Amino acid sequence: MSLLEVSDLSVSYGSVVAVRRVGLSVAKGELLALLGPNGAGKTSLLSAIAGLIAPTEGSIRFRDKDITGVAAHRLAPRGLRLVPESRALFPHMTTAENLRLGAGRMARDDFDKSLESIIETFPVLGERQRQLAGTLSGGEQQMLSIARALIAGPDLLILDEPSMGLAPIVVSEIMATLAQLRDQGLAVLVAEQNARAVLPVADSAALMVRGSITLSGAPDTLEERLSADGYLGTSSSSDSDSG
Ligand SMILES: Nc1ncnc2c1ncn2[C@@H]1O[C@H](COP(=O)(O)OP(=O)(O)OP(=O)(O)O)[C@@H](O)[C@H]1O
Ligand SMILES: [Mg+2]
Repeated sequence: MSLLEVSDLSVSYGSVVAVRRVGLSVAKGELLALLGPNGAGKTSLLSAIAGLIAPTEGSIRFRDKDITGVAAHRLAPRGLRLVPESRALFPHMTTAENLRLGAGRMARDDFDKSLESIIETFPVLGERQRQLAGTLSGGEQQMLSIARALIAGPDLLILDEPSMGLAPIVVSEIMATLAQLRDQGLAVLVAEQNARAVLPVADSAALMVRGSITLSGAPDTLEERLSADGYLGTSSSSDSDSG
C-alpha cells in the first residue's frame, strides 16, 4: 500500500501551469526518482506535496489521510519532510544547532538517540558538530540538510536535486545513503536532473516534461528510453565514438 498518493495534481503561477494533472505514488521502502529537464515542474510538484504552495487541483494523500493544502510545518511532525534544493541551513549556527532545529519538540533523550544514529549514517557530521554550517563544504551541507530532515524520524523523505553542485564522488555517496535509508524502510521521493546518478539506486522512476509525467516505470526501462530520446546526453560507455 502506498504511503504517498498524488492524484491529478496541478500547480499554476497565475496563468502559467507548471504542473498538469500529475499522479504518482510512493510506498514504504521505495525510492522513486522524478526526472526531468530544467523548468519541467519538479520543484513545483515537490513544493505542493510538501505544503509550501497550494495546488490548483488534485489531491495528495499521506498515510491514508488527505493532506492537500496542509502547510509544511504541520506535515513535518506527521512524518513528511522536504530537503529543498537550497538546503535551507542556518549558516551562522553550528551543525549541532541546525540538527537540533530539525528535531521540533522531540524529547532530549529521543533527540540524543536519533543524533547517534544520524552520526552513524553521516560520520563527518559527528566531526563537524561545532562548526558553523556556512563553513561546511557543499557535500557536508547537503548531508546536514538531509540529516536535519531525518532527525525526527520521518516516514517520507522528499529531496529536490540533492546532487546539485556536488562532485561525482560526493553525489555517489549521497545516493548510496538514500539507498541505505530506503533499505531501512523509509519512503524516498527524489527529483533529479542527474538521471545517471539516481537511476541505479531507484526502485521506480518517472520523467516529467513541461508539467506532465510522460514516462514512468522500472529504472532500467526508463534509462533505455531516456538514452534513446537524448535525455542522458553523450555517454562515455556509448558505442558512438564521436563527441
Ligand atoms: N514562483 C514562480 N512564479 C512563476 N513561475 C514559476 C515560479 N516557480 C516556477 N515557475 C515556473 O514553473 C515552471 C516549472 O518550474 P520548476 O521550478 O517547478 O521546474 P523544475 O523542474 O524544478 O526546474 P529545475 O530543474 O530548473 O529546478 C517553470 O516554467 C518556471 O518558470
Ligand atoms: Mg527545481
